[in-house]
Amino acid sequence: MINYMEAPYRILVVNDDEAQRELLRSVALDAKWILIETDSTDSIVDNIIDWGPDLVLINATLQGVDACHSIKHSPAQGIRDVAVIMLSDQRQKLSRRKSFTAGCDDYVGNISLVEELKIRVDLQVRNRRIRLELECVSKALRKSLLSKSRTLLESQRGLIRALATLAESRDDDTGKHIERVQYYLSILVAAARRKKLLDSFDEAWEEQIIQAACLHDIGKISIPDAVLRKPGKLEPDEFAIMKQHAEEGFATLDAIHQEFPENQCLAFGKAIARSHHEKWDGTGYPQGLRGEEIPLEARLMAIVDVYDALRSVRCYKPAFDHDHSVEIMQQMSPAHFDPVFFPLFLEVSDEFSRVYNDNCEVCVGDVS
Ligand SMILES: [Fe+2]
Repeated sequence: MINYMEAPYRILVVNDDEAQRELLRSVALDAKWILIETDSTDSIVDNIIDWGPDLVLINATLQGVDACHSIKHSPAQGIRDVAVIMLSDQRQKLSRRKSFTAGCDDYVGNISLVEELKIRVDLQVRNRRIRLELECVSKALRKSLLSKSRTLLESQRGLIRALATLAESRDDDTGKHIERVQYYLSILVAAARRKKLLDSFDEAWEEQIIQAACLHDIGKISIPDAVLRKPGKLEPDEFAIMKQHAEEGFATLDAIHQEFPENQCLAFGKAIARSHHEKWDGTGYPQGLRGEEIPLEARLMAIVDVYDALRSVRCYKPAFDHDHSVEIMQQMSPAHFDPVFFPLFLEVSDEFSRVYNDNCEVCVGDVS
């Protein structure tokens, strides 16, 4: 591996004064710099691109200020980052202020002070190389962090999905229900975004709630088979047990969320698990929340969950077709669903139907 910090300095000399160039050549020989020389500021940016110097030494009398300005104000960072030292001498008295205003990194007023020149060149080149090295390290770190975050995100997705599938397998052997509710929710959220109903939410929010949707019935894991898989209608005491899945799901996710309070997906998962059976008029469970007291993500979930339940075979009901399911939901709507999002569901319900038809081949008729 090349030790970039120790590589010979590459210096572009822009100077039409032969005496000064001769002096610089001897300094370069002594300091082991590699020089390339030009006597004109024309094409200075092209020279930098072609040759890639660490530093440019410009004679200030040779339209040096303009040349420095074109380097330091170049749109290309690789050009702007090249160090520039303006050379002058005491007789010419060119304004230091103008040179520094143009962006030069240093100004040498007397190049015959060779040791001082060497120190100034050394300082500028080392500064530039350290900066470049830091940028490289920072880029590599960003890349590595990004890759680790992606891996973590994928692991999180996988774990959440596995957890949800485990719970779902208690009453849906195919796991298709959780797949479909995520599709439905993404359709509804996209429609809401198009109608600007979700302006205060970003893409990360959308992705997190769609991911969290699969956790809605995770509390069913604690419901006994005798109740969960009972063919036919539940008795009131059995229904009371079934209703516990909302609080059970919340409690399960809350315990994990307390360990990882920054995890937004778990926060949404908790809200959805607890409140997806709440109703707009306050007659739902478990808390009897009403209207906008019900978290938004749970209000959206209620629509997609009811649609899928109506379309699917359950141990207590047959599968209904799309039109009949929508009809039932319209009857339920004033009491049950958010009055802003339910009309939106009606607008995109054909897409829901397509999702069901594309993802239902195994699940119809498989329960009980
Ligand atoms: Fe549920």
